[in-house]
Amino acid sequence: MKKNILVLTGSPRARGNSDLLADAFIRGAAEAGHEVVKCDLARKNIRGCTACDRCFSSGKPCVFDDDFNEIAPLIQRADIIVFVTPLYWYTFPAQLKAAIDKLYSFEVGKKKLDISGAILIACGGDPEEFYFDGIISSYRLILRHLHWEDMGRLIVPGVNNKGDVLSTDYLSRAEKMGRDIT
Ligand SMILES: Cc1cc2nc3c(=O)[nH]c(=O)nc-3n(C[C@H](O)[C@H](O)[C@H](O)COP(=O)(O)O)c2cc1C
Repeated sequence: MKKNILVLTGSPRARGNSDLLADAFIRGAAEAGHEVVKCDLARKNIRGCTACDRCFSSGKPCVFDDDFNEIAPLIQRADIIVFVTPLYWYTFPAQLKAAIDKLYSFEVGKKKLDISGAILIACGGDPEEFYFDGIISSYRLILRHLHWEDMGRLIVPGVNNKGDVLSTDYLSRAEKMGRDIT
């Protein structure tokens, strides 16, 4: 069945490793007939949540009218969210985390999301998977809280410089992940 997939990327580095992984995933998902929208959060202006609890009081998710309010309708239309991100200090980069923080607005505003599942694709320069324990743990707890199914994770260690991922098999693995979405 065709799904609406929203790919949220977290890197400020255009054509960097996570950007290439995102595009590979999108190629696979599009080939499988899914509708995919990519949103590069590092090129958006999203403030951190201020916990004012006034979400949706003005009709918009956030009363501070930043780019989250543009992205919110994409989130509300999505069946699946895919986080594609570099590892920054063992977790999500601030630009992506700011958008995750503002998912809070849907809770305060009592807006039900149709999202049923998520995927994590994370890359980093450190050489082994255990360096990703922090981001995986956050991701799993976020999904548990939101009742989203964990539809898969692709952890890509050992890629530090722009384009390092090109000499690995992770792009074909990301593409297959997209293609295998049912
Ligand atoms: C601010 C910053 C923090 C980083 N922290 C980590 C880290 O904790 N662990 C790690 O493995 N790599 C870390 N890196 C390296 C990036 O994750 C790595 O270069 C990755 O390939 C970048 O992906 P991109 O090309 O999509 O931007 C960090 C890079 C930056 C700029």
